[in-house]
Amino acid sequence: MPSLGGLLRKKRTKDSQGTNDPTSPTSPVDASSPLTPTTSKRTSGSFHLHTTKTNESAKSAHTSNNSNNTPPAPSPAQHKANDSMNPAAYAQQQHPPQQQTPSHNAPSIQNLIHPTNTSNAPSAASRNGGGGGGGGVQFQTQPLNQARVTKGKYSLTDFQIQRTLGTGSFGRVHLVQSKHNQRFYAVKVLKKAQVVKMKQVEHTNDERRMLQQVKHPFLITLWGTFQDSKNLYMVMDFVEGGELFSLLRKSQRFPNPVAKFYAAEVTLALDYLHSHNIIYRDLKPENLLLDRHGHLKITDFGFAKEVPDITWTLCGTPDYLAPEVVASKGYNKSVDWWSLGILIFEMLCGFTPFWDGGSPMKIYENILKSRVKYPPYIHPDAHDLLQKLITPDLTKRLGNLHGGSKDVMNHPWFAEVTWDRLQKKDIDAPYVPPVRAGVGDASQFDKYPEETEAYGQAGDDPCVKSPPYTVEHILTCPNSHGHLFPDF
Ligand SMILES: Nc1ncnc2c1ncn2[C@@H]1O[C@H](COP(=O)(O)OP(=O)(O)O)[C@@H](O)[C@H]1O
Ligand SMILES: [Mg+2]
Repeated sequence: MPSLGGLLRKKRTKDSQGTNDPTSPTSPVDASSPLTPTTSKRTSGSFHLHTTKTNESAKSAHTSNNSNNTPPAPSPAQHKANDSMNPAAYAQQQHPPQQQTPSHNAPSIQNLIHPTNTSNAPSAASRNGGGGGGGGVQFQTQPLNQARVTKGKYSLTDFQIQRTLGTGSFGRVHLVQSKHNQRFYAVKVLKKAQVVKMKQVEHTNDERRMLQQVKHPFLITLWGTFQDSKNLYMVMDFVEGGELFSLLRKSQRFPNPVAKFYAAEVTLALDYLHSHNIIYRDLKPENLLLDRHGHLKITDFGFAKEVPDITWTLCGTPDYLAPEVVASKGYNKSVDWWSLGILIFEMLCGFTPFWDGGSPMKIYENILKSRVKYPPYIHPDAHDLLQKLITPDLTKRLGNLHGGSKDVMNHPWFAEVTWDRLQKKDIDAPYVPPVRAGVGDASQFDKYPEETEAYGQAGDDPCVKSPPYTVEHILTCPNSHGHLFPDF
């Protein structure tokens, strides 16, 4: 087994709330689990073992500068030319989570159920891949050549930076308010030096490029990026309802229909990404946000990558890594289906299947053994699906077979899901976050110590200002990293 020490590049400091909160939004169940789930958020990491054989340069062909989309601009900055990337420059009360009992949840969860199929019993029809509840779903694959214009639209002076929403390996995500339209956005700030030091230049450029191209109801929207001498900035929609991670830790574990709802929305997002040859590679509750209505938005495209064939990069989050990644084999979309299995397991049980006292090495050993102990309270259909996702045998893993994501959608556990309605968000979420919409209510996010270093204050990065970047130019400003992020 390769050394995986590089996976843990930085410990995320934050602990979640207690696990026995009586105000739990979903029914707190006595999990009686043999394991104690980790309450700390898990760090994702990356460790290059091999040179990826994916043709990276091919991807630049997709960075279109044309768009038919008209973003609800955080600022009326359209007047700015494309060279306008120069650095021109709270506390919400923690609301107790809404009291929601299982019976409150029931009506909305019922909406997940197909009107003609209310049985909880395993469905033989869809087990055979036929037209059971979710069977026969076909979504149109939208071409990805309509990337939004995201370059050079904004600068730091367009926003008032407010509190931190989350911290990550290379920077933090802030709630910000546009000075122009007063709307709230989330801005991910990445320290260039840190990105370079951790050899994440390619991943960071990929994150921007992938986010610019995708458009899906369950994926975060990126409106623009810019940089100054020290930092990269990514302007996104502010997703108000907080992380699924926090909800899960408060709830301890989710009832079967609740886990099914979130898993189904993730499945639709994966179906979309994979249909565009994008693998996500960092599925976990920390990266799943709830919007004000309780629908999911996947954020953090830090490891998302367009991979038409195969890649070798070892990256992700230990608990969620597929065995083919841990074993340093080439891999593709298969890894996201494994991670979906881990996610469903964690939602149903409150802990991940290979978690073992917090030691990553032990987790990797367990992953390679791939032996899962399924608690008896897991619904038989869920158990069956999990066995077909959390399998090291790539010729058997659901999602990785000829039927692709449709095999997952047609599985009996999802038999009640009306996929086309779900895609349109025409199904009520099981839990509606208690937020005041549109006013920058960050009460669902944990509090973090604030950044002390002011952004955009240091001198201009000459490489930011003066493309194209000649070799001579780069050599004369060795401390500048601007040329490494030409798209920001
Ligand atoms: N668009 C957003 N709206 C609200 N919060 C966000 C948004 N994007 C990220 N966050 C918060 O910031 C945290 C860190 O962001 P993320 O992109 O996951 O960074 P990292 O790559 O360092 O994990 C997330 O887990 C989430 O809590
Ligand atoms: Mg993250």
